Amino acid sequence: MFDKIKEIFESECFVHEPHQLYDPIEYTLHLGGKRIRPYLLMTANQMFGGDDAHVRNAAIGIEVFHNFTLLHDDLMDKSPLRRGKPTVYCKWDENTAILSGDTMFALAWHYFLKQPTPRLQQILSCFNQTAIEVCEGQQYDMNFEHSSHVTIDEYMMMIRLKTAVLLAGALKIGALYAGAPEADIDHLYQFGIHLGLAFQLQDDLLDSYGDVAELGKQTGQDIRDNKKTYLILKALQTAPDNLRSELVDLFSATPDNSDDKVARVRQIYDQLNIRHNVEIAIDEEFSKARLHLDSIHLDDDKKQPLLNLITTLSGRKK
Ligand code: IPE
Ligand code: IPE
Ligand code: MG
Ligand code: MG
Ligand code: MG
Repeated sequence: MFDKIKEIFESECFVHEPHQLYDPIEYTLHLGGKRIRPYLLMTANQMFGGDDAHVRNAAIGIEVFHNFTLLHDDLMDKSPLRRGKPTVYCKWDENTAILSGDTMFALAWHYFLKQPTPRLQQILSCFNQTAIEVCEGQQYDMNFEHSSHVTIDEYMMMIRLKTAVLLAGALKIGALYAGAPEADIDHLYQFGIHLGLAFQLQDDLLDSYGDVAELGKQTGQDIRDNKKTYLILKALQTAPDNLRSELVDLFSATPDNSDDKVARVRQIYDQLNIRHNVEIAIDEEFSKARLHLDSIHLDDDKKQPLLNLITTLSGRKK
């Protein structure tokens, strides 16, 4: 399926005039990425007997939307690298990232509208609700940068919105195209939520423990941005008083040279064995995802691609 998705994107042209608007769109969409969301959409459709050709444009639409969020996210997070290349706001400028991003949001709609189905109204309403929730999640993510009292429950709520609902929405939309029964769609959606929670927990872990060359993103970015990730929240919860107050101070400052800050925070994480804690939380979310998959009324062989995806994602390094 991933090969098919690669082909779909290779054969799609995103270049139009004015090229200053479309060049960054073409650049981003042809840089690759894991393409998890179109994979989820197309796999869900296939599971319930749908035809791949009938969701081609919707698969493009969901990935275009995801990439729109990345253009704006990199600007908000001041991230220099994505997929091993300069981010759009660094390669061009901030205004370009805003406007090309806005265009991608509208382009996503364009692709969904091109994909006829009797359930279009339901699909578009799911897509739109998802888009609103992603923005809500991104706002909480920014709000939390300025708070030292974020709880793990609040963090889970924030990542459910900014990340998990899009994975869940992709699955739901794929299943809707195939005309799947409502009860199964609900379990598939919950599967996507827990998969997405695990996915963002891993993303947070990789931000501190990943390898820049493999990840294609600058590491330590969350620490530089004072992001309230699971790692820092768990560290604050488990640290002795002296380390806790040091962490609070470190996460209230934005030094010009943030390398020392990143190194010190990583040292404290190691001392508190935070990595292990995050890995437990990730496994818990994957297990919850599997339970929802179990409840779907389909033969096991139909569910195998999603089970395999969990295995693939479990060991991901990018
Ligand atoms: C990055 O998403 C943003 C998050 C939700 C963590 P991906 O890790 O799916 O990014 P690409 O598309 O594969 O580059
Ligand atoms: C991104 O979360 C979520 C969205 C883009 C909506 P992050 O900010 O952690 O994603 P990366 O690490 O930059 O890919
Ligand atoms: Mg980011
Ligand atoms: Mg972000
Ligand atoms: Mg991240």
